[in-house]
Amino acid sequence: MTSQNHPIGVFDSGVGGLSVLRAMRAQMPEEDVIYFGDQGHVPYGPRPMQQIQHFSEGITRFLLAQNAKLIVVACNTASAAALKHLREKFPEVPFVGMEPAVKPAAEHTRTGVVGVLATPATFQGALYASVVERFAHGVQVLQHTCPGLVGQVEQGDLDGPRTRAILEEVLLPMMEQHIDTVVMGCTHYPFVIPLIQQIVGTDVRVIDPAPAVARQVRRLLEAGGLKRSEGGAGSMRFYTSGDAGAVQSLLPVLLGESSQVQAVHWKSDLEIER
Ligand code: DGL
Repeated sequence: MTSQNHPIGVFDSGVGGLSVLRAMRAQMPEEDVIYFGDQGHVPYGPRPMQQIQHFSEGITRFLLAQNAKLIVVACNTASAAALKHLREKFPEVPFVGMEPAVKPAAEHTRTGVVGVLATPATFQGALYASVVERFAHGVQVLQHTCPGLVGQVEQGDLDGPRTRAILEEVLLPMMEQHIDTVVMGCTHYPFVIPLIQQIVGTDVRVIDPAPAVARQVRRLLEAGGLKRSEGGAGSMRFYTSGDAGAVQSLLPVLLGESSQVQAVHWKSDLEIER
């Protein structure tokens, strides 16, 4: 039986989900968390949907085997490719996923032009199409992928010349079209918001959906009677299918906290071995 004291499972193709975990820690420091970064397969963005679905299912099983009481798909790409499938496959598990924050962008734009940055798979998915169809009436949505940016964040390069060049190539043409809002449609991207803000200026609003997603996690836990009582300090456990040392050294930079990271291996596209 699922208990309030069980951990929350969080996963991403890599370190991107730490931008969501950061918001969760700020709002619910008492919760235990297990984080899985699939560095062995990052980036997910250019991969076929079906393969991302398999990885997401394998990671979900891995997190459930460790008693996760709720799973946060802290990856727009995995949400686009697999969230519906995961909800069908594991109907008893509460899931929280990501969708590009087109709604708040459309509500607040004054120029009527907003930019969305995300991966190719996110833009191809039905989730993105439905968000634009539902919320972007009368608003021009400029969408763009940022090839190479996920890799830069995985290397901890948040403001070097290559990272800046990738962002300028995407953002300067959007500025010419008078965007006043940019949506972070990939959980890796909030880590470069300071650099984005340097490029677009402070008049352009940059939307990081993480705080809203953390609030949704909290609401769902409360509704299900799964919220841990406040006061204590929750523990964190980190797993990666890639290089544990590399992830470990990024945690203080990206999350502001340190922890051990354990390496695990994929046995097949659907199964992780501990
Ligand atoms: N962090 C991811 C996202 O939110 C995935 C990036 C990738 O692996 O391509 O879309």
